Amino acid sequence: MKSPSLSFIVLIVLSICLIHNTSATTENEIIIPQYWINTKFIRTIDITTAVVRENIAILAQNVHNEPLREYYFPINENFDVHLSYITVKEKKTSKIFNIVKADFDSFKRIQFYKIIFDRQIDPHEKIVFIMSTAFIHMLTPYPVEIAQSGRQNLLFRGNLYGNSAYTTEQQKTTIKLSTANVISYTKIPGVSRNGNTIIYGFDKKKPDDYEELLVHYEFQQALLTIKGVRRDFEISHWGNNLAVEEHYNLTHDGAKLKGQFSRLEYQQTVYTHHETIMARDFLLVLPGHASEVYYRDEIGNVSTSRLRKERERTILEFKPRYPLFGGWNYTWYYGYNVPLGDFLKYDHQTGRYIFQVSSFIDPFHNAVYDKAQIRIILPEGASNVKVELPFPVNKETHTVFKTYFDSKGRYLVVLDKYNVVQEHSSPFLVSYEYSTLELLRKPLVASTFFFCGFLLSMVYSRMEFRIGK
Ligand SMILES: *[C@@H]1O[C@H](CO)[C@@H](O)[C@H](O)[C@H]1NC(C)=O
Ligand SMILES: *[C@@H]1O[C@H](CO)[C@@H](O)[C@H](O)[C@H]1NC(C)=O
Ligand SMILES: *[C@@H]1O[C@H](CO)[C@@H](O)[C@H](O)[C@H]1NC(C)=O
Repeated sequence: MKSPSLSFIVLIVLSICLIHNTSATTENEIIIPQYWINTKFIRTIDITTAVVRENIAILAQNVHNEPLREYYFPINENFDVHLSYITVKEKKTSKIFNIVKADFDSFKRIQFYKIIFDRQIDPHEKIVFIMSTAFIHMLTPYPVEIAQSGRQNLLFRGNLYGNSAYTTEQQKTTIKLSTANVISYTKIPGVSRNGNTIIYGFDKKKPDDYEELLVHYEFQQALLTIKGVRRDFEISHWGNNLAVEEHYNLTHDGAKLKGQFSRLEYQQTVYTHHETIMARDFLLVLPGHASEVYYRDEIGNVSTSRLRKERERTILEFKPRYPLFGGWNYTWYYGYNVPLGDFLKYDHQTGRYIFQVSSFIDPFHNAVYDKAQIRIILPEGASNVKVELPFPVNKETHTVFKTYFDSKGRYLVVLDKYNVVQEHSSPFLVSYEYSTLELLRKPLVASTFFFCGFLLSMVYSRMEFRIGK
């Protein structure tokens, strides 16, 4: 009698599992209509630095029977998380085409990007455009550990065939290295190598064709990653001052140090100018009029910092308390004041203040940035704030920053961006409206504060007087 009910329960449990499973594995497979054919696909992969920059010149032909304006480009999820930027321009005119993140194929784990041309491409017509992409953290040290003054080798892994949502008839791939010391690379018939370039060529390839491309080569430089940078710009109309403070979390992502650190060996390396991946001397570029410069790490003031005034800029040179080897971190912050007029202009036509940040990030020793946060603290009462950036950021937040003596709190703009590289070191603008009457707010608040305090202390002293009597 017991067994049928048991099997019934088992059946129910099983079917629940099945329902659960099917609902959990609803895959979203994306089918891209084959409206294009890549007649030619000329790819250049630049691995001369820590950033993998890939440019592809694509000659695409409309093989559909209607005019087309859109072209899809796939990036594998494993690569997409490391994508720093993706831009497209027409080869002939250098005109920038719009590119947007499109669907994600959860079945093949592919992110699609959609290029939108500036015009319709007629049936049989061709268009030549150049895709530029950059990826960070795509190069891994191998071996993972090396001796203190040893040589570092990196592994680059990619797809031997270019990513494409369409069939490609002919392709050529050139890999550029900073060295001719190549340990190994994927060898197929027809591959050729000339010093620090490796060239592959292929005939017809279908969209899903994949074969691993592996290049193992020497890279005797530090692999620096800024895990996070926070840059604060505080505008004070009242003091005609711009206060800047920047916080850095730096990691050396190169091959890890094998064994113990030897100070003797370190001194020898420095003395003989031996080429190592150790990082020791850094410099930061500050504005020419920077004053009251300070620089600190977790412990305090660093005595090995030096300030050098040049005509147009100020150079802050510093040595961390210890040299950086693979896997080692260093955290510091620095700051300075600079006359506001150097960065802030008033536009009489629009009645707006225009604040120019000279660079989204300060390029720091070829480092890549996992995350950059820019905070612009505008004066209290700033309104109608607009940010104009030459590239998209991950997050733009407008909020309130409260400090002492502010009645309403100041206007705070926060910009967050991930996977930042040198190409993002371009200027941007923050504009706002601000009434000169607002200038009076702070002293008014402050004097009211003092006046109240004065009154209170008067009342208090009188009370005391009375009690005393
Ligand atoms: C640096 O790292 C610390 C500890 O993880 C973190 O609290 C801080 O926010 C980081 N700073 C930046 C600028 O990313
Ligand atoms: C920090 O160190 C620098 C360089 O030695 C020195 O000039 C400066 O006075 C120090 N600052 C403080 C606050 O100790
Ligand atoms: C460096 O920081 C990372 C976290 O960002 C941590 O996991 C690692 O242990 C640190 N390395 C050292 C040598 O302290």
